[in-house]
Amino acid sequence: MSSLDAIKSSFNLTKDQFQAIVNGFKQEYEQGLNTAEAKGLATMIPSYVTRLPTGQEKGTFLALDIGGSTLRVCAVELLGQGQVKVNEVKRSIPMTDPLRTGEIEPFFDWMVDTVDLLLKEYHLDTTTSSLSMGVSWSFPIDQTSVSDGKILRMGKGFDLKGIEGQDLKTLFMEAFQRKNVKVKVTALINDTVGVLVAHAYNDPKARIGFIYGTGTNAAYPEKVSKMVKLNKDHSLYQDDAEMLVNTEIDIFGSDAYLPLNRFDRLLDANHNQPEFQLYEKMMSGAYLGELVRLAALELVKEKYLFDGHIPLEFKDMYSFESSQLSDLESRSADALEVRLQHFASMFTFDTPIHYQPTEKDLTTMTELCRSVATRGAKLAGAALASLIEQQYDLFQDPKEPIVIGINGSTFELYPQMPDRILTSLSDWFGPEITDRIRLEVARDGAGIGGALIAMLYAHDEEDDDL
Ligand code: BGC
Repeated sequence: MSSLDAIKSSFNLTKDQFQAIVNGFKQEYEQGLNTAEAKGLATMIPSYVTRLPTGQEKGTFLALDIGGSTLRVCAVELLGQGQVKVNEVKRSIPMTDPLRTGEIEPFFDWMVDTVDLLLKEYHLDTTTSSLSMGVSWSFPIDQTSVSDGKILRMGKGFDLKGIEGQDLKTLFMEAFQRKNVKVKVTALINDTVGVLVAHAYNDPKARIGFIYGTGTNAAYPEKVSKMVKLNKDHSLYQDDAEMLVNTEIDIFGSDAYLPLNRFDRLLDANHNQPEFQLYEKMMSGAYLGELVRLAALELVKEKYLFDGHIPLEFKDMYSFESSQLSDLESRSADALEVRLQHFASMFTFDTPIHYQPTEKDLTTMTELCRSVATRGAKLAGAALASLIEQQYDLFQDPKEPIVIGINGSTFELYPQMPDRILTSLSDWFGPEITDRIRLEVARDGAGIGGALIAMLYAHDEEDDDL
């Protein structure tokens, strides 16, 4: 077996491994639903969202969407009949931005300045009353109501001093006061919950909200009666009530059922948060490039790739990005000469070597990218399979579609990603069920979803204020 084949097979996911992951995830759902308190890390987090929009709601609501690489603040005008108009201001936060690892106040002031910018740019009037804002927080929070929750450990390179355990709404309200901006936070949501709600505004049959971008995660509606962790609050809900649950599936998994290969282990050992989010590290957009880089470096060392020369682009951790994988894979239909020329332009070799990449290098790198990304697709498929199985009622009516709203660059931009995920679902469920599964792009889920939940719960918040 060639060195490349050996590496490719270490990224392969067999049916047995797929099954172990689906079973492992299902066990973690049960365990999470039965665990009363979140201590440090939490999964199966109740969102307290029990209402879904009908598609007919109207009005202007704000949403703030903070993710791994971008802050987006939107004014969402709900027009009814599932229609929306969105005005937004976006700012990026590079991986090395000191805001990510500094004090809490400057980070929240920066977010609130962006809200202020949006209000001014789009002439939104807050003179008579504050506007309601939904915050879509793409990190774990231990929620205690729709608008309250304590910040848990953040991933995606964020390490703000003393942030863990802080009340998220309070931090926003204090920053709004410091900056004299008349906005109130009426909902805190995880981005997956936002995706599901936003997709339901379009298609009320939506039953899973999935994010597959820089990070990964999923939300689905669970029966309140099964949510042991809500203990004393059960009396507040009707017997058949359902609540959206933020699974934090990104945190799931351990050696017990995740088939970690040596590159996964190396990536994890080099990470600033080792042993955290093992599943996410195997498959999400933040890591695909790094896995390819680590595997490629092994091949360079064996002189199988680039004739043993390390390109400058491989010297630093995370220097090879998922967008480059996707770029390489998307060119497979181009003429070889064109592909080779483009490939050579991606890598620089130290003088005096001036190594010229060959066709074998191109093929090797493309195959590596395909193996790593295809394993990512299968791992996403395993999460979706477990979420479908968790909702028994989806199997009741063989004519009903199973609608999944998905948001994120890895799903939306990576070549053939939806097909690869669907293939893994088809291998698992067979054609009958797979024909019912609809993987739909839920664009702007976190923004529109945040605004919708802010709208759905704006009045509850007013009552609370009394
Ligand atoms: C976070 C989740 C988030 C997901 C997708 C993960 O890293 O822990 O809270 O939903 O990324 O953005």
